[in-house]
Order: sequence, then C-alpha cells, then structure tokens
Amino acid sequence: MKVVAIIGSIRKESLNKKFAEYIKSRYINKFDLEVLSLNEIPMYNQDIENEPPQEVVDFKAQVKAADAVLWVTPEYNGTVPGVLVNAIDWLSRVDKVMIGKPSIVMGASMGNLGTVKAQMHLRDILFAGGVASPVLIGNEVYVGAAHTKFDSEGNLTDEGTVKFLDTVIDNFTTWMKNFQ
Ligand code: FNR
Repeated sequence: MKVVAIIGSIRKESLNKKFAEYIKSRYINKFDLEVLSLNEIPMYNQDIENEPPQEVVDFKAQVKAADAVLWVTPEYNGTVPGVLVNAIDWLSRVDKVMIGKPSIVMGASMGNLGTVKAQMHLRDILFAGGVASPVLIGNEVYVGAAHTKFDSEGNLTDEGTVKFLDTVIDNFTTWMKNFQ
C-alpha cells in the first residue's frame, strides 16, 4: 500500500512533518509512506491550471499514484494553513486526483487543543465536490503540546498517544483496503 503524507507546514523544524516522519518509520510494515513537500508549489491560478508548472504536475502525479492520503496539519488562526488550502485547490481542478481517494486527517500543535478546529475545517474541505475524498471517521488524532512530545531523534515519547495511534493506524489500514 502506497500512502502520501501532505503536511500543512513548510518550515524546516515543523512538528507536523516530524509527526509524519515518525508515522512513516513506526508503521513501515503496514504501508509505504512518502512525505511530500509543498515548498515549491506556487499559488493556485486558474489562468494556468491546464498547463501548470512542473512542480504541480509532479505533485498531482504523486497523489494520483497513491492508494490514500494522510493529511497532517497545524492550525493557523483557528483554521487550515493557506499552504495546505492552496495545495488542495490544485488537486481539486482539471483531473481532480482526489476524487474517491481515501484520506485520514491528523494534526499537531503547541497548544492543548491539538488542531481541533483546523481538522474540523479540513474534513469539510475534503468533502467538497472537486475533492470528494472519503475520510476515515472517528479515529481523530489531535496531538496537543506537541513540542513536548518528541525526543531529539523524532520519536513520539508520549505513551498514550503512541498506543492510540497504533489503534488508529490499524483501523486506517483495514478501512483503506475497501477502496482498492
Ligand atoms: C499558530 N499556532 C496556532 N496554534 C493553535 O493551536 N491554534 C491556532 O490557531 C494557531 N495559530 C497560529 C497562526 C500562525 C500564523 C502560526 C505561525 C502559528 C501555533 C502552531 O500550533 C505552532 O506554530 C505549530 O508548531 C505549527 O506547526 P509546525 O510548523 O510545527 O508543523
């Protein structure tokens, strides 16, 4: 199973990227997770959507080839960061590569609520017509105070979170097979 992770932060030390990298290594026997970069994705522009820059062509191809998408996002000002909305805008147009592709949503923040509002909004966006991605319900992963929960090697140190994540990933891998 091939899964791509799309991260709502492009900063080098992103906690959400760290979380995705941790998931990649911990569940290596469950799926092949590729953490995609949004660093070079330009702003969506309808004028060029039919002939987008190569970075967008490659990004869409990577998503299209995946069996599922793992969204890992911070919360910015109570909602989804612009970088992530921008990526979804590209994915939602022309060949609409997300339609029917299963998604799971997670997020990490320094605050205690762990991206609750951003995830709520992101799930709504994923239901939009041009995206139309089935999202695993329940199994909501909110990592609050994330800056205190990783060691220097990027391992998640909070036992309760790891245990819960094991269950969620089990549920996700079982569920995503329905879409093969
Ligand atoms: C934040 N942060 C934040 N946190 C939160 O829990 N709710 C929020 O609404 C916001 N808003 C917000 C806006 C902006 C512009 C920034 C830069 C930050 C803090 C955020 O959780 C923290 O910076 C995370 O570490 C960002 O995720 P990455 O980059 O570490 O993945």
